[in-house]
Amino acid sequence: MTEKLNISSFAENETIMKQSGQRRCTNSGRIELDLSCLFDSPNDPNPITLEDFNALESEIIKHHRRLKRGEGDCRDKGISMLGWMTLPERITAEHLQEIRQTADKLAGGVEAFVSLGIGGSYLGIEATWKALTHTYWNQLSREERGGRPEIYFLGQNMDPDFFRDTLDMLKGKRIGVNVISKSGTTTETAIAFRILRQLLEDSFGEEAKELIIATTDARKGALRQLSNQKGYETFVVPDDVGGRFSVITDVGLFGLAVAGIDIESFAAGFKDMKLRTDIDDFRENPAMLHAAARHLAYLKGKKIEVVATNSAPLYHICRWMEQLFPESEGHNGKGMWVSPSMYSEKLHANGQMVQEGERNILETFLYLKEHDNRVPIPRDDDDLDDLNYLPDKGKDMNFINSLVVMGPAQAHHNGGVPNMTVEIPARTAYHIGSLYFLLERSVALSGYLLGHNPFVQPGVEAYKQAIFALAGKPGYVEC
Ligand code: PA5
Repeated sequence: MTEKLNISSFAENETIMKQSGQRRCTNSGRIELDLSCLFDSPNDPNPITLEDFNALESEIIKHHRRLKRGEGDCRDKGISMLGWMTLPERITAEHLQEIRQTADKLAGGVEAFVSLGIGGSYLGIEATWKALTHTYWNQLSREERGGRPEIYFLGQNMDPDFFRDTLDMLKGKRIGVNVISKSGTTTETAIAFRILRQLLEDSFGEEAKELIIATTDARKGALRQLSNQKGYETFVVPDDVGGRFSVITDVGLFGLAVAGIDIESFAAGFKDMKLRTDIDDFRENPAMLHAAARHLAYLKGKKIEVVATNSAPLYHICRWMEQLFPESEGHNGKGMWVSPSMYSEKLHANGQMVQEGERNILETFLYLKEHDNRVPIPRDDDDLDDLNYLPDKGKDMNFINSLVVMGPAQAHHNGGVPNMTVEIPARTAYHIGSLYFLLERSVALSGYLLGHNPFVQPGVEAYKQAIFALAGKPGYVEC
């Protein structure tokens, strides 16, 4: 007996071992797509059939080839937005090294790092960081974080309580900031940056500029102008890559490097998936299969995609998908709503609706095959909770957690919800990079299949104009 909780019967936490550099990640296994619960869902009045799926093949291949040739409705203000397609091959080892060096220098000299941005300038960074690191990163010791600073995100909302609470966490610390805005004019990011910049200047004087890194357009915009004026070190958001496709650009790479994430493996995963999804064989190309499944589901009246995972860290990737897909597909009265879910949690919240509600749902599982850790379930002499059958059969928490995907996949399919599973071998930078490229390519195909440009988001402007008018910004009138 001790007076404090003793968990020495558990093995070392492998996530900490990995992030502190005491274990190396292996990139074995590859992402696979399981479509076995997609077809002929019994209680679906409008089920997806294999015949429908096969009938889509030639159309998908047509759009796949257009995308590869750089054709199709892909321009934003005259610029082709397909830069993300070739980025995996264009990123050089020297550039990754330059990012790492700048990130290491900043990370080594600060106690806390704040990433400022919204939408595509935020979600992918937080999602990747959370997917690959310890859930309670900021509460770990610096050594357990691999010598890296605490990490915070601001600018993704304008909640004064959230902002103020975050300032409390930063109080008295030496902080580094990466402000990210392609346009340089996004209100939320700009307000958060104005406040932090002034705090940094008041606290650190001239040195403040060494603690600020700006990631923005190469030439234009308010943030570029400010950076030039103040002498900030900058990274670039490429002209030909939209925000939600930008996690593999400097936008994502710098913050991830600050967290000590292996950006070389991340880029390698992206590149390998690019090669895998370049092939013209419909049945061997996971991006074409994924896009076909979603498009068919949409045509069959599935207007909601529940994207569920059995991994708490990967839940944040479901949130990244909540932007990638609806912002790219939600045009001209079309598009599927993405509902990010963590299972089992959500099975006890809206699971009833998924099983028995309106049959307008497609479900996509992000299924993590290997967790970093294993948690055994102990035997209990009284067995009042009837759980001894699990340890008696050698089953642990990991086993049950795999069933929170397999069980719902079967039950929901029987209940009229077609579903598919994206199998992710492990939480490594390589696999997450691969996943991102797969999904980016899939949504590009989806936009082409729906008949619109998936690389623009004119609808996002409307709320901005309304806020400007309500706030009394000169030149804007209420509608
Ligand atoms: O996908 C997009 O383009 C958007 O979500 C943007 O990333 C988001 O609006 C932030 O824009 P900016 O980087 O210009 O501040």
